[in-house]
Amino acid sequence: MDKVIYTILMLCLIVPATLPMVHGNGPSATVNWFKKLAHKSQKTTHLHFYLHDIVSGPSPTNIPIAVANSTAQSPTYFGLIAAIDDPLTLGPSPDSEIVGRAQGLFGSTSLEEIAFHMSFDIVFTKGRYNGSTLTVVGRNPFLREYRELSIVGGSGVFRLARGTAVLNTVKYNSTWGDAVVEYNVMVLHY
Ligand SMILES: *[C@@H]1O[C@H](CO)[C@@H](O)[C@H](O)[C@H]1NC(C)=O
Ligand SMILES: *[C@@H]1O[C@H](CO)[C@@H](O)[C@H](O)[C@H]1NC(C)=O
Ligand SMILES: *[C@@H]1O[C@H](CO)[C@@H](O)[C@H](O)[C@H]1NC(C)=O
Repeated sequence: MDKVIYTILMLCLIVPATLPMVHGNGPSATVNWFKKLAHKSQKTTHLHFYLHDIVSGPSPTNIPIAVANSTAQSPTYFGLIAAIDDPLTLGPSPDSEIVGRAQGLFGSTSLEEIAFHMSFDIVFTKGRYNGSTLTVVGRNPFLREYRELSIVGGSGVFRLARGTAVLNTVKYNSTWGDAVVEYNVMVLHY
């Protein structure tokens, strides 16, 4: 009996305090989210957007940070390290609505073909995913039709996420390096 009353009391105390914080981002909201994890079911979400990687012009979103002495002689840019802050849009046009950014680093790590080791965050800036992120790590053999990168985690709506991003280039200016890349992201999250 005492135990039942105690449980009811605890529920009364906990529920009103935690409900508004379910999607909060402070430490107590995160602790509560993890405490409730056992009662949550996993969802699958399909995200579709386009990444604009701009190398040319006065406002590049992809800039080199470092190269080795030998990089200039390498047909695969081996040794190049670069930073990106690429806009992500709903459609393939650069004028399409921006829904987020891809922010991170990549390095050219193959001697045999142009392939980048990528490590970046997809930072959502619109709608229900605004403020949430997905972390992408993987190998990107850039000239192949389809590339598969791993979603290794996330924050906000995407806490504990994992999944797969399939990339395919829809536009590539081989003289300047500018590219538009279609992303289909399948993600498991709670
Ligand atoms: C790279 O090039 C610079 C300038 O030519 C030279 O001083 C340096 O020794 C080279 N470094 C290596 C590791 O070859
Ligand atoms: C996204 O979230 C930020 C920070 O909370 C807020 O300033 C901004 O207005 C939001 N944007 C949209 C489109 O909801
Ligand atoms: C490549 O980009 C440059 C600079 O923006 C532009 O002048 C050129 O017309 C583009 N070439 C193609 C084939 O789109």
